[in-house]
Amino acid sequence: MKKSLGAKTLLFPTPVLMVGTYDQNGKPNLMNAAWGGICCSQPPCVAVSLRKATYSYNCIVERKAFTVGIACERKMAEADYCGIYSGREGDKFAATRLTPVRSSLVDAPYAEEFPVVLECRLLHTLEIGLHTQFVGEILDVKGDESVIGEDGLLNILKIQPLIFDTSRKGYHSVGPCVGQAFSIGKELK
Ligand SMILES: Cc1cc2nc3c(=O)[nH]c(=O)nc-3n(C[C@H](O)[C@H](O)[C@H](O)COP(=O)(O)O)c2cc1C
Repeated sequence: MKKSLGAKTLLFPTPVLMVGTYDQNGKPNLMNAAWGGICCSQPPCVAVSLRKATYSYNCIVERKAFTVGIACERKMAEADYCGIYSGREGDKFAATRLTPVRSSLVDAPYAEEFPVVLECRLLHTLEIGLHTQFVGEILDVKGDESVIGEDGLLNILKIQPLIFDTSRKGYHSVGPCVGQAFSIGKELK
């Protein structure tokens, strides 16, 4: 029998997304966001939900662009730092020694050290409550060669993306592939 846990933001897994923006002075900023994910295939879109209190919020509203980097185990402390401190208080790129790179497609930066980045132009803004959901159209995905397999596809085990545990607030790693989607289910037909 299931036990009620209440109306809470419990979902497993959630990603750890590094939202990259420029402020009004052109200072690059990076924030950690777990409330996000792919939300459309055509056009390819990703959504991130930010509180108005974040420094990044206005940056997205003003520049109409953001990037989404995939946080990885190798840079876990840096990713977490970007979720604790605000760009309002200082330069998070300088503090974490992450390297800001200007996107060639949208008016937003990303951190070179995160192996995969989605470059997005703001498509929709949805006021939900405490959080505002920004839907970004993905204009390109860039990946380090080191995380692209011989088949030309991104390799999740090489990326080592962080998973956020919404219950105990821990960061987890991705395990091995246990089955092929759109295939394993056919065994039950
Ligand atoms: C694991 C983790 C996930 C987070 N997810 C979100 C989120 O989805 N939305 C949000 O508004 N804040 C989220 N935060 C908090 C922001 O990252 C934090 O408030 C940050 O300081 C905002 O940075 P900024 O003020 O430079 O924009 C998260 C923090 C952590 C550590």
